[in-house]
Amino acid sequence: MKIPLFDLTRQYRGFREEVLEKIDEALLNGRVILGEAVKELEKSVAELIGVKHAIGVANGSDALLIAVAALKIGPGDYVITTPYTFFATVSCITRNGATPLFADIDPVTYNIDLDEVEKILRTHPEREKIKAIIPVHLFGRAIDLERLEKIREKYGVRIIEDCAQSIGASWTYEDGTVKTTGSIGELSTLSFFPTKNLGAYGDAGMIVTDDDELAAFCRSYRVHGSPVKYVHDMIGINSRLDELQAIVLNIKLKHLQEYERRRIEIAIKYAEHFESAGLGFGVSGMDEDQFSSKNTQQISKDCSSHNAQPTMYNDVVIHYPSVPYSVNGEPRTANDYCFSHVFHQYVVRFEGFSREQRDSLRDYLTEQGIGTSIYYPMGLHQQKCFEYLNVPTGSFLVTEKACEETLALPIFPEMTDEEIKCVVEKIAEFVTSKR
Ligand SMILES: Cc1ncc(COP(=O)(O)O)c(C=O)c1O
Repeated sequence: MKIPLFDLTRQYRGFREEVLEKIDEALLNGRVILGEAVKELEKSVAELIGVKHAIGVANGSDALLIAVAALKIGPGDYVITTPYTFFATVSCITRNGATPLFADIDPVTYNIDLDEVEKILRTHPEREKIKAIIPVHLFGRAIDLERLEKIREKYGVRIIEDCAQSIGASWTYEDGTVKTTGSIGELSTLSFFPTKNLGAYGDAGMIVTDDDELAAFCRSYRVHGSPVKYVHDMIGINSRLDELQAIVLNIKLKHLQEYERRRIEIAIKYAEHFESAGLGFGVSGMDEDQFSSKNTQQISKDCSSHNAQPTMYNDVVIHYPSVPYSVNGEPRTANDYCFSHVFHQYVVRFEGFSREQRDSLRDYLTEQGIGTSIYYPMGLHQQKCFEYLNVPTGSFLVTEKACEETLALPIFPEMTDEEIKCVVEKIAEFVTSKR
């Protein structure tokens, strides 16, 4: 059985005619740049996130670059972010002349550890120069928005939420208020890269904000800093959202909830198969008391105190994400899921595997026709281009362990139940043969 990590073509078959018809209509009308479809998409995304403005741009990387520029962050300023993310989360800081300050991640959620963020805000020798935090809702899992808002208030920093992987994910506050990722940042950014939960058939991205002035800045910056044609108030860039991509995205957006529901259902099924195979146990990141550990050694300790007994294979403990529920951790149906995780990726940790063992599992799955990926093979502090930051390997142990031990398994809405089962069976085959 061939099971790709992600399959764009299965989804396309579902609305091929509608896409072709709408694209044909636009081409016959000659509308191909920043036309009606872009406006419609901007309106719908602003509504979905619950903010006043959405500004379509060429991709999620430009969205971040423009957001940092809009907050007038530049040379001499610092921005706190995670080293465990896609490159653009950090390059948007350095390309604006500012300096990133990395904070390690939480070992269960892989999101930036807010205790570490606070520690930097309290103790950094030049803390008055820290202008913003860029949290990433990694793999589709919302970070604690309530705590982020408190941190913003306490330390007077701004927030740019990188929602490239988390469209539709939300956080439930203690008083029951539900806020969507992207709704609390001064600016938040989205990517519509084809593999994203809402993916175009090429590059596309968006910035969202509630602030009229910031929105006007972004609108102008995306067209060379030109609020009126051929009049340039500042030096911006060319970063327009393509009309044809917007047509595709408008069609797909109508199905987003249904796609995300299925992603969550797939995550539930993965968890069930792992559980019934006796392979490790599920971690949700919501059980704060059980998983409050701050380093990876601690993970297995916490796991053994969990009522589900972890299974050791060759000293390996498998941590698969289980699904957080809004209703007291109760029912296992897709209707009761909590949107706090929209499973852009389904990432499993093989605690105790060396990088080589993890890579040979990946090779084995490839031989079996199963696509996987490694998000991410190294921390951004370890990248050659950031050597000048002088942050040596060993600085972020949780990130570095995750880079060695995790593997992303196939997940896409059209994946079949049989395929999910097969992936777990093949993993079980590998792990048990390594005993
Ligand atoms: C967390 C994160 N930030 C930013 C981006 C950049 O988006 P794009 O590829 O659309 O430039 C991505 C996409 O890969 C991402 O995953």
